[in-house]
Amino acid sequence: MGQSPLLISTLLLSFLLLISSTNAHNITKILAKHPEFSTFNHYLSVTHLAAEINRRQTITVLALDNPTMTAILDKHFSIFTLKNVLSLHVLVDYFGTKKLHQITDGTTLASSMFQATGTAAGTSGYVNITNLKEGKVGFGAENNDGHFHSFYVKSVEEFPYNVSVLQISQAITSADAEAPTPGPGDFNLTSIMAKQGCKAFADLLRASKALATFDDNVAGGLTVFCPTDNAVNGFLPKYKNLTGNQKVALLLYHGVPVYESLQMLRSNNGAMNTLATEGANKYDFTVQNDGEDVNLETKVVTATIVGTLIDQDPYVVYKVNKVLLPRELFKASLAPAESPKPAKKKKAADSEANSPAADGPADDSADQKAADDNSAASGLNSKFIMVLLGLFMGVLAL
Ligand SMILES: *[C@@H]1O[C@H](CO)[C@@H](O)[C@H](O)[C@H]1NC(C)=O
Ligand SMILES: *[C@@H]1O[C@H](CO)[C@@H](O)[C@H](O)[C@H]1NC(C)=O
Ligand SMILES: *[C@@H]1O[C@H](CO)[C@@H](O)[C@H](O)[C@H]1NC(C)=O
Ligand SMILES: *[C@@H]1O[C@H](CO)[C@@H](O)[C@H](O)[C@H]1NC(C)=O
Ligand SMILES: *[C@@H]1O[C@H](CO)[C@@H](O)[C@H](O)[C@H]1NC(C)=O
Repeated sequence: MGQSPLLISTLLLSFLLLISSTNAHNITKILAKHPEFSTFNHYLSVTHLAAEINRRQTITVLALDNPTMTAILDKHFSIFTLKNVLSLHVLVDYFGTKKLHQITDGTTLASSMFQATGTAAGTSGYVNITNLKEGKVGFGAENNDGHFHSFYVKSVEEFPYNVSVLQISQAITSADAEAPTPGPGDFNLTSIMAKQGCKAFADLLRASKALATFDDNVAGGLTVFCPTDNAVNGFLPKYKNLTGNQKVALLLYHGVPVYESLQMLRSNNGAMNTLATEGANKYDFTVQNDGEDVNLETKVVTATIVGTLIDQDPYVVYKVNKVLLPRELFKASLAPAESPKPAKKKKAADSEANSPAADGPADDSADQKAADDNSAASGLNSKFIMVLLGLFMGVLAL
């Protein structure tokens, strides 16, 4: 009887592990086994569609081989338009080869990721799948011209009923998906910052390889917090002290790889990952609302959003009144008003003195020795008092 809760929790844990591991699919990995789709695979990653595909439970990817992708790339779409074109080739339903040939009434409209993004006008994000003569299956945009240009070729990989990858012969053409996507294509992060009071931060970004990471995230969603010129100028001496990698991490810490409108920030208190977050390096901060203010707390500083430079889903840039200092790079205890906890304080001072950053080795060791002697002395003193007390009691008892 006493063991059953343990048994149940063990079973529960293994069950949870099981579903979390079977759930995860990785379209990049699946396609990597098929080099004839390497260009398609590459652009799924570049446009951030791969991540969106992996997030979904049920998905069908209509893969295009390298020559077909070359034909698309020859049209020189912006990366944002290319994302729309490719997202029309990702259906948010499961179509294995079998189901494809057994469509009720021989024709159906399947919703694509292009439809799901809300970018598509009306129902232009639906894909018409129709069973044709001699077992052929045609794929067309919802408003196709009555005949199909793209056909089922073969099944690439099927994991029923989660992920299906099917090859089709041609790209599904859609004027809507191919329409120039306004906005993002013209977006120049550093020049917008420079024009609107974040020139110092823009200058740091321009000189850093961190900028490429910001640019890469614009299409898939990006929120940037740029500190004011005053804040950055005051911080420059500390910035110059950082190593090359630390500088990059500090800059990346000011970006978040999703679009967060002010309303979203206002309604969501909690931890937020940044572009610097990677594996064990958390580099996160906490969003904390205070009335109308949105504060970003890093445990080293608390910065407040003081303005919006541009807000154009999928990207937004806010101005903040302080440089965000990650606790991975800066000491959390800069606040001078610490409550007096002698034992703890002593420990902190010790570890600081032991760290290689401590100044003047000669003086320091002397100080350290003095400190050690002091603490030894105070330890002795209290023991001495205890012994005296004991003696006193003993004497009384006699
Ligand atoms: C998916 O697989 C690719 C290639 O194997 C790998 O680089 C990437 O990190 C994987 N993504 C996730 C989310 O596991
Ligand atoms: C799909 O397209 C074909 C050809 O234009 C059309 O006949 C059919 O009705 C369409 N299917 C649906 C479900 O709209
Ligand atoms: C599909 O996902 C479910 C969990 O949602 C999992 O139990 C199942 O094993 C997966 N199937 C395949 C073929 O990966
Ligand atoms: C943004 O503008 C700056 C000049 O203001 C220019 O040097 C840079 O190449 C532009 N970046 C992009 C991605 O167009
Ligand atoms: C930069 O590093 C040096 C040596 O470690 C130190 O003395 C100095 O105080 C640091 N400056 C700033 C602004 O942190």
